[in-house]
Amino acid sequence: MKAHDGMYIDGDWRPAAGTGTIEVVNPADEQVIAHVPAGGAEDVDAAVRAARAAFPGWAATPPAERAARLAALRGVLAARQGEIAETVTAELGAPPQLAQAVHAGLPVVVAGSYAELAASYAFEEKVGNSTVLHEPLGVVGAITPWNYPLHQVVAKVAPALAAGCTVVLKPAEDTPLTAQLFAEAVHEAGLPAGVFNLVTGFGPVAGQALAEHEGVDLVSFTGSTAVGRKIGAIAGAGVKRVALELGGKSANVILPSADLAKAVAVGVANVMANSGQTCSAWTRMLVPADRYEEAVGLAATAVAKYVPGERVGPLVNARQLERVRGYIRTGLDEGARLVAGGPDAPLETGYYVAPTVFADVTPGMTIAQEEIFGPVLSILKYEDEDEALRIANGTVYGLAGAVWAGDEAEAAAFARRMDTGQVDINGGRFNPLAPFGGYKQSGVGRELGAHGLAEYLQTKSLQF
Ligand code: NAI
Ligand code: MG
Repeated sequence: MKAHDGMYIDGDWRPAAGTGTIEVVNPADEQVIAHVPAGGAEDVDAAVRAARAAFPGWAATPPAERAARLAALRGVLAARQGEIAETVTAELGAPPQLAQAVHAGLPVVVAGSYAELAASYAFEEKVGNSTVLHEPLGVVGAITPWNYPLHQVVAKVAPALAAGCTVVLKPAEDTPLTAQLFAEAVHEAGLPAGVFNLVTGFGPVAGQALAEHEGVDLVSFTGSTAVGRKIGAIAGAGVKRVALELGGKSANVILPSADLAKAVAVGVANVMANSGQTCSAWTRMLVPADRYEEAVGLAATAVAKYVPGERVGPLVNARQLERVRGYIRTGLDEGARLVAGGPDAPLETGYYVAPTVFADVTPGMTIAQEEIFGPVLSILKYEDEDEALRIANGTVYGLAGAVWAGDEAEAAAFARRMDTGQVDINGGRFNPLAPFGGYKQSGVGRELGAHGLAEYLQTKSLQF
């Protein structure tokens, strides 16, 4: 695979300060496909300086001109969609169709939405005798995960640029090639030098240096709860703004009046997509007791379509594979009933997990409480709606969820009682403009749409 042997800083590819490298591995065949430089504090410092220097000019650029640059960026991402999809398949293992439609397709939509928002957002408002200015926060340190390599980058960088902020990105070490392609796209779109900068590197080195840097005004992080806590503490010590998107354990609540077959089929598809490496996946299916065995049978049938190496890709790396297999073993140890899949490797090569369904899962089990991040579904039983709500709300997380009922109003009434940031009603479509983010330990802040843009702004009030 094509890789840059440098960092994208101040509008150019520059040699890294040190000599360390990251091996990029294709998780489908375990082969090394490229090397990229592993940056350190010196590279981060150079990138932050470039972003600081570019900030006044970009902040003062009229929103219509920022919108035009974002529209150009959207255009480049659209034109290079095929190459992006191939790169995501190579470094993440995503099946080609998913890579094309979601991994390469969604960022085009999100970049386009911010091109429009940059042009239409009210950066000034009247409040009584005041004019309130919504001004860019400054330099953003963006730290992204590997699960949706380009979407996670665009969901931070596009609103930051729309707001008038400048950015230093530290992408996940597993998927740096997609991030390098994004830097190429920024360059091609004609963004001024220093407005966007890329430092590849390891989390505890480059990521930490970025979060700690005094020249960074806002740290936006997506990833594990453990690292999110650290970033939150670092940001607190430096009195920086912070946004954290830390995953979930979302509930798919099937009410008695629902179309059970449809709810189960869509629920299984939701969990298996991207090999279960989706923070908003509905990994707990809640079914009324009197339809429980019927639902378990439907789930077993539905999951059979998800064949590893075909419709389901591998997990991103060997560590995630061991982690997910460990959760499956814990599920068995704690007495859940295995309906499909299990801990054994379905293929000889590649970091594949067999799509797994557990029945007889009780709310206190580890697999019902912790984020597994693999193709593993737990089916739980409830007696009445109050119990369903207690189970749905009974984790430390609150990122997403689903409710199914005979009519939308009934499902929406239940959704109002859920402690979570997004709920799909009877299979409602994904909306790239709807705020995305968590209640409770799923995080702090929101991404996407106008709410996502507001994260990168601060207010100044002028009284007249
Ligand atoms: P991670 O939290 O280690 O990685 C996310 C990003 O943080 C990467 O760019 C990484 O380099 C960076 N990072 C790591 N340590 C850092 C530090 N000390 N300071 C600054 N940056 C640091 O996630 P990991 O280990 O790849 O995945 C572990 C689990 O995290 C998954 O099993 C899943 O449960 C969760 N996760 C959640 C995601 C989400 O979308 N919310 C995405 C990826 C993982
Ligand atoms: Mg990691």
